[in-house]
Amino acid sequence: MALNIAVDGPAGAGKSTIAKLVAKKKNIIYVDTGAMYRAIALYILRKGTDLNDSEAVSRDCKGANVTIGYDNGTQIVFLNGENVNAFLRTEEVGNTASKTSANPAVRAQIFNLQQQLAKENDCIMDGRDIGSVVLPGAKPKIYLTASSEVRAKRRFDELIEKGEKPDFDKIKEDIEKRDYQDMHREISPLVKAEDAVLVDSSDMTIDEVVEKICSLCE
Ligand code: DC
Repeated sequence: MALNIAVDGPAGAGKSTIAKLVAKKKNIIYVDTGAMYRAIALYILRKGTDLNDSEAVSRDCKGANVTIGYDNGTQIVFLNGENVNAFLRTEEVGNTASKTSANPAVRAQIFNLQQQLAKENDCIMDGRDIGSVVLPGAKPKIYLTASSEVRAKRRFDELIEKGEKPDFDKIKEDIEKRDYQDMHREISPLVKAEDAVLVDSSDMTIDEVVEKICSLCE
């Protein structure tokens, strides 16, 4: 059976940074499921679908064929054959993904892709419902979190680094809004799976978190 490591947690907890490093260390692939939801959100945004019209979102998302490839260990997301990696990491796409991912048709659209990738590859997969719904048999399962203050500060520093002029309070408010949306939706809400190990990275370095996860794989 393939090694399947599940990492769930709220936005900005450092899941992708940590998962990429663990993947490198263990020579396994990193599957970023948030990027798949972002690709569908991008499709919906481009199409101009009314986000508040759930029937329209259910109907339109069926036109988004999401597939995954790897280039030197980096996950590439293809949307109807187009490499869309460069368009996925904007606040607009992230906030839209948080809304559209609450739609059952959107989740169904990429569920099989996620399970298939884990069946065929040793992988570390991150998201919101990996340990609880997508890969209930994953071992180990990690619930990675940090306070909203710390997560907002990390995002703030990232944006400063990029030469932007971010507003800390607005970033924190957005993070808390996304937490609420991700944790309170009806389908596949963000929860800690019963058998997941809680890792609070608020006062931990990246290396400490990577070590902790690798030690849970032994
Ligand atoms: O991890 P991220 O910020 O790239 O995810 C974007 C959105 O996608 C997030 O707000 C919730 C959703 N998502 C989800 O519902 N389930 C997942 N497994 C991964 C992400």
